Amino acid sequence: MAERRWLAAGLVLLAACNPDTVVHKVGWFATMRHQRNIKPYAMPLNPVPGTVPVTGAEPDSLPLALADKLVNSRTRTAESLNRGQWVYQTYCEVCHGAGGKGDGPISATNGQTPPGPFVGVRSLVDSVARRRSDGYIYGMVINGAALGRGLMPRYWDRVRGTDRWDVVNYVRNLQQQAQGGGR
Ligand code: HEC
Repeated sequence: MAERRWLAAGLVLLAACNPDTVVHKVGWFATMRHQRNIKPYAMPLNPVPGTVPVTGAEPDSLPLALADKLVNSRTRTAESLNRGQWVYQTYCEVCHGAGGKGDGPISATNGQTPPGPFVGVRSLVDSVARRRSDGYIYGMVINGAALGRGLMPRYWDRVRGTDRWDVVNYVRNLQQQAQGGGR
């Protein structure tokens, strides 16, 4: 019987202990609560101009004026390149080719007879492509038509989030490799 009573008393105590109301009464916790920081919702921070969110809402197309101003939010680390390689092999290689020369299996420029059915595929490693900004390549991935380049399908709905910059980084790496460098 005695244990029952203790148990009941314990439960009442527990129920009274809503951490949100109790925590700041304990001196040590109160210090943490009253430190100098930005309280939730006190000061919404706007995105830095020229960046795009890597989660949540992201663009499905970019006009030329905006594309060239976009800042690449992913450093070209081995992790980024590995992911970019996967994205490239999944979505791009079939047209642009393993080395980015525009000679993938379904490209008309693949050098085989008969040539592949897809015309107008560009090299990603020639001097024209090398001069493109990261943001321009990003824009081509999501929606080439918005950049006035109607021949390439849009991939905004399949290549999402950081994958977009990772594949840009991978294209940059292909360009370096074509020049005899890269890693
Ligand atoms: C179905 C074939 C196809 C696939 C798949 C494809 N592309 Fe393209 N790509 C093209 C064609 C065609 C063009 C030329 C577009 C134009 O000029 O209208 C092009 C152009 C480009 C350009 C512009 C190069 C330049 O001229 O400066 C980039 C960058 C590019 N593609 C990147 C990619 C990436 C990255 C992927 C994968 C996410 C990809 N493409 C997937 C067909 C394709």
